[in-house]
Amino acid sequence: MRKLLVAANWKMNGRLEQNRALLQSLKNNGLLELNHEVDVLIIPPACYLSQVSQELVGTQVKLGAQNICSWLQDGAFTGEMNAQMMVDLNVSHVLVGHSERRAFCAESDELVAEKTKACLVSGLVPLVCVGETLDEREQGLLQAVLSRQVLTVAKSLDEEALSKVVWAYEPVWAIGTGLTATPEQAQEVHAFIRSLLATVMGQVAADKLHILYGGSVKANNAVELFAQKDIDGGLIGGASLSASDFLGICNAAK
Ligand code: G3H
Repeated sequence: MRKLLVAANWKMNGRLEQNRALLQSLKNNGLLELNHEVDVLIIPPACYLSQVSQELVGTQVKLGAQNICSWLQDGAFTGEMNAQMMVDLNVSHVLVGHSERRAFCAESDELVAEKTKACLVSGLVPLVCVGETLDEREQGLLQAVLSRQVLTVAKSLDEEALSKVVWAYEPVWAIGTGLTATPEQAQEVHAFIRSLLATVMGQVAADKLHILYGGSVKANNAVELFAQKDIDGGLIGGASLSASDFLGICNAAK
């Protein structure tokens, strides 16, 4: 039985006061009591990691980062942050390969694999995002795209490392659009991703992995999505910016 994980990706949103109010409201309205049933992860912009870390002291809510620089140790790399720096900030998880970074920052499958490895070497859990665009789906390329994205990462890791990766399936056409994959569509793809991973690590190990769904998850569609056999929680964007919406989704994962 895989315990569900619900992750709040704030993306490039928030300000000090707004973050404080959001976290207070989450805490005052049941976030902390959820913990024995659902794992919760908050992923703010890097500049607010310290703030969120402090607000979460004494709770079991985990802290995530939206990005790291992949292959570099300390040095003259202006504007970059490495995995060790995230460890210093109490980060436990790092998003890797989010479609927005693949699209806007030209991150390749190979780079995603490098970043995944860098997280693992530093003891961070990589949350690797994969998903097809609408164009790719309509052209019948769904399985080819996912195979490429998943297997480039999976085949670059040994089995022990691979067992620590968390995956997120995010159909690009569902992100921030209000369109959601139906529970059946999402389940079909999650099962496919798990079967790909089983080809690398075996079925027993693949069955232990978490595969989250992301793409316009709201409180009113979360129950059905999370009830699917291969959906192990959600990666939540827009709805994570409202305490009541996010808590509604977390409660759907209980
Ligand atoms: O990281 C989160 C996903 O991109 C989903 O975003 O819930 O705003 O569609 P969304």
